[in-house]
Amino acid sequence: MSSKATSDERAHGEADPHELIEQVLAERQLIVASNRGPVTFTQRADGAFSSRQGSGGLVTAVSAVLQGQHAIWIAAAMTDGDRARAAAAADAGEALIEPQGNDSRFKLRFAVPSQESYHQYYNVISNPLLWFLQHYLWDTPRSPDITHETWSAWRDGYVAVNRMIADEVLLACVQTDGEPIVMLHDYHLYLCGNMIREQRPNVVIQHYIHIPWPDPDYWRLLPLEMRRAICEGLLGCDIVGFQTPEHARSFMHTCEAYVPDVDISYGDNTISWNGRMIAINHYPISIDAEAVRRTAHSREARAYERYLPTHFNEFTILRVDRADPSKNIVRGFHAFDRFLEAYPEFKDRVNFIAVTQPSRLDVKEYREYLDDMSATAGRINAKYANVETGWQPIQIIMGESYPRVLAAMRWYDVLLVNSIIDGMALVAKEGALINERSGVIILSEGAGASLQLGEHALVVAPADIEGTAQAIHRALTMPFSERQRRGQAMRAAVESEDVSVWFQDQLADIAANITGRKHQS
Ligand code: G6P
Repeated sequence: MSSKATSDERAHGEADPHELIEQVLAERQLIVASNRGPVTFTQRADGAFSSRQGSGGLVTAVSAVLQGQHAIWIAAAMTDGDRARAAAAADAGEALIEPQGNDSRFKLRFAVPSQESYHQYYNVISNPLLWFLQHYLWDTPRSPDITHETWSAWRDGYVAVNRMIADEVLLACVQTDGEPIVMLHDYHLYLCGNMIREQRPNVVIQHYIHIPWPDPDYWRLLPLEMRRAICEGLLGCDIVGFQTPEHARSFMHTCEAYVPDVDISYGDNTISWNGRMIAINHYPISIDAEAVRRTAHSREARAYERYLPTHFNEFTILRVDRADPSKNIVRGFHAFDRFLEAYPEFKDRVNFIAVTQPSRLDVKEYREYLDDMSATAGRINAKYANVETGWQPIQIIMGESYPRVLAAMRWYDVLLVNSIIDGMALVAKEGALINERSGVIILSEGAGASLQLGEHALVVAPADIEGTAQAIHRALTMPFSERQRRGQAMRAAVESEDVSVWFQDQLADIAANITGRKHQS
């Protein structure tokens, strides 16, 4: 991360990083690109458009830090409404779509792939192939099968949509004065960096990867052509950012294994390739603490105070996830089953609430996982349900409502975040910030958040059902003073490093890169 380097620089009389950042941003246009846009559009019957914020951690985090930046945001059109809005903009000759209201964060432009091409890029390659690879989700004797369909999805979907996004970024570069700063996001856009670099050798490009980066051996399940193109796409950037130092190191190992003629310096986290130096850094993502608090106490969230308590009990265990196999929801249910079996005195007294957002339902594995979750919860409920009191141990609340999620988080005794592996698991940071019952967090050691919160959480190995059951018991029987101490320490950790630190650290490294170039020329 940059903060240490820049304080050292200051000690040597060099420029204040904040001044450098301001100077660079005043001179250069920020261009952000991600698959999912910051807003998604719906067209009403009268032809007018309305928009709402896109879902998910990436959009929430990046939108939060763009206040006042007037960035240009390039995204893929994902819905009929997005495609119609992009077509209306083209008809009207609007280069950029202005969001509603007086929004100083961004203007938007969509790349509009055909629906088939988008399907291949998103539903065949990005999810499940890359997502599954990067979360170690394959049952390797059986999957993945790289078939001729996978190869056509790679060429006609992934490569083609990356080319379209890169072309939109290049167009935005041409339309701005001077050299802009390009910030690319996540696993959907791995090839864009090098595609942009080939046309604009001097543009500053940073790519931030929100999800884990596995070891080189696991990448071998992808054919060499694909894994090499992915690494080289990223090496087209000046800076590649990860959530944790381990993932950054794993990326360097992967480049060393599969990209010819790289020169890696593990000491200072750089790779030399094609006559350029690429910095490999880590920046743990976080939440916008003020905005999360505001939403947790908003009118929409308070409206749930009436019905949520009907789900609570003397003790409440909560989990909040997209219905994604990487979140390990089914094993969490098994751990709760084991807990009730080992500690029957808790029967009738504890409820497990799983707030679940169905996700990526066009992908078979996600549909099947949702079915597994419901079936497992059903079996456990059938095993323990008390007909006299009406108690059912597990309750799944489906659907997407951020105010409802935050409303529920204020009241848990235990928050279970047992992902198999997770870039960060921001849900742990949200819970740590707003919970009002000194609730305990049970946290997977595979979640990036364990680096910041692990010391104060109960850390579990994600496959360890017995260990997770014991952690539930420990959390529910812990002296209140210990709960308070852990809760306060976690909250302080989140408050001291919120999402603005994540963004400022990246900008400081970009500013340092630009200053370094000036000194060289
Ligand atoms: C989560 C991940 C991000 C990813 C996003 C994509 O938020 O943490 O890394 O970019 O999902 O989700 P989507 O809903 O666009 O498939």
